[in-house]
Amino acid sequence: MSKVILTGDRPTGPLHVGHYVGSLKRRVELQNSGEYDKIFIMIADAQALTDNADNPEKVRQNIIEVALDYLSCGLDPAKSTLFIQSQIPELCELSFYYMNLVTVSRLQRNPTVKSEIQMRNFETSIPVGFFTYPISQAADITAFHATTVPVGEDQAPMIEQTKEIVHKFNSVYGETLTDPNILLPDNKVCLRLPGIDGKAKMSKSLNNCIYLSDSEADVKQKIMSMFTDPGHLRVQDPGKVEGNPVFIYLEAFCRDEHFERYCPDYQNLQEMEDHYARGGLGDVKVKKFLNNVMQEELEPIRKRRKEFEKDIPEIYRILKEGSEAAEAEAARTLSEVKNAMKINYFEDQALIQEQAERFASDK
Ligand code: TRP
Repeated sequence: MSKVILTGDRPTGPLHVGHYVGSLKRRVELQNSGEYDKIFIMIADAQALTDNADNPEKVRQNIIEVALDYLSCGLDPAKSTLFIQSQIPELCELSFYYMNLVTVSRLQRNPTVKSEIQMRNFETSIPVGFFTYPISQAADITAFHATTVPVGEDQAPMIEQTKEIVHKFNSVYGETLTDPNILLPDNKVCLRLPGIDGKAKMSKSLNNCIYLSDSEADVKQKIMSMFTDPGHLRVQDPGKVEGNPVFIYLEAFCRDEHFERYCPDYQNLQEMEDHYARGGLGDVKVKKFLNNVMQEELEPIRKRRKEFEKDIPEIYRILKEGSEAAEAEAARTLSEVKNAMKINYFEDQALIQEQAERFASDK
């Protein structure tokens, strides 16, 4: 069986370093591993519209931001198909048929949808499109016969729901769809990087993100103003490493070799953490180190972004070409689905023959 990746992001803002350590970096590694036969990376604009119906301009503006972030992180259109969800009408058709295989109460139990409903104060007026987006996500995944879906932990309920739809479809209509597997980030801290204010999640509305598209000066300013241990008032005080955003970021970004280059007082993160916990290590020194480590990682991304920004029409051309290739793939799957459901009337010679005979013998 061929190995196929499908994943994507909602274009509701530029991507931040949380996206990078949580998924983008991994995608590029998977892409370059040569282990996958096909890779589809989707800008999920239709899904973004399920809770931004009144703000299509936001989605429209951010498609190019996300595309630039993808390309500058190293996703390569020669190896991965980059496409825009709304340009693949087959996904809507698949969703429509899958809707018959899912109950309202099952959707209500989806924990991610549940918490999003609360976050958006949708309790009394949930848009139907939003409520059913896990079904459309199942269409995204199955349309490409994806075997592997690399996503963050919060997406686990979606993959679970997709598997249920696949099993149900295959048991009712015969083996047609491919059962996908989730691929979670391997580094625990990368599951969810906190904001620079120490809040649990980086979010545009909280204004606590470091973006991949931020300038060197912005990144530095954000790191130097980062929340640390509020009890660590003087350098000589013992500090708390656990839950301290600066150390969480270091766990996500730094490797032993960085110490040689930028902070030879220590051999590895453990030694630095021990010193901080003992007392005698100031926040500024740790932050300066983090800044060096992060700038080293972000600089090549920024450089590539600047190059891609020089030819924006070319980026749209890449997305158009990707969308055409993705549509061809989804159309094949839709036709398999319609065959399995026997709603392919005009290709079904046996049906036409059978009906002809029935009416002939009626006479
Ligand atoms: N729900 C994902 C997010 O919020 C985006 C997405 C849409 C997706 N369809 C998908 C991810 C299919 C993986 C597979 O980021």
